[in-house]
Amino acid sequence: MNEAPVKIVPRSSEGGATAGGQPGRKLQIQVLRHNPQRQGSVPHWQSYQLEEADGMTLFIALNEIHEKLDPSLQFDFVCRAGICGSCAMVIDGRPGLACKTLTKNLGTTITLAPLPFFELIGDLSVNTGKWMRQMSERLHGWLEMKDKNPDIGRIEQTMDPALAEHIYELDRCVECGCCVAACGTARMREDFVGAVGINRVARFRLDPRDARSDADWYDLIGNDDGVFGCMSLLACHDLCPKDLPLQTQIAYLRRAMVRQGLG
Ligand code: SF4
Ligand code: F3S
Ligand code: FES
Repeated sequence: MNEAPVKIVPRSSEGGATAGGQPGRKLQIQVLRHNPQRQGSVPHWQSYQLEEADGMTLFIALNEIHEKLDPSLQFDFVCRAGICGSCAMVIDGRPGLACKTLTKNLGTTITLAPLPFFELIGDLSVNTGKWMRQMSERLHGWLEMKDKNPDIGRIEQTMDPALAEHIYELDRCVECGCCVAACGTARMREDFVGAVGINRVARFRLDPRDARSDADWYDLIGNDDGVFGCMSLLACHDLCPKDLPLQTQIAYLRRAMVRQGLG
């Protein structure tokens, strides 16, 4: 099931062809269901009908289905505000966050499928956390301090506000997995770190407190599972729900790693 094709629609089409969003539209929500934990379960589409409410998101619609029609339907939500990244799924062929998707911006028939590539837990629930943790452990996706024995009583050192802003921009990743689910390279290379991994490296490479040099970064991502595996397909950039500048970061890091490799 993880091989299900993902149709990519450019980011510019967001909020495009809509059907008006009038309260009272009858929605047909088709969900790709499968529970790998249950013996004999086979992937199949199941249809649910409900009436659209004003301001309805897919989070609200799925909860209504869960409460009124089918308590067995599995899906993930935590924050309902585009912050935790747990509600990512394939919405009408395009990875996105269900809690940030208004039904009024979709047609009356909506298809929902789990993110491909990640381990399926059941129905629309996938284990992005397991993949993200493995990626982070491989990349040491945390601050490796220059000062190994920091004096915690010392007054905090300030950081240039523009640099802090730049780091913060990359830190906005919510690890939803949309970029990985949409990436052709990730489908072909199981160990590809994805745009989310490359973005993580870009974030710590910027940080003046981090001890690692470009030679260290090259050891981690100067290969086909890192920046040189990326084929610049850019679905990651088009689909990132946090609008992270992934295209720029990938291109910038690739140039830096080429320089490092040649040097
Ligand atoms: Fe999600 Fe964007 Fe982070 Fe990828 S880079 S995991 S699409 S927030
Ligand atoms: Fe994949 Fe994005 Fe590169 S979609 S191939 S990581 S540009
Ligand atoms: Fe947290 Fe959607 S529920 S991002």
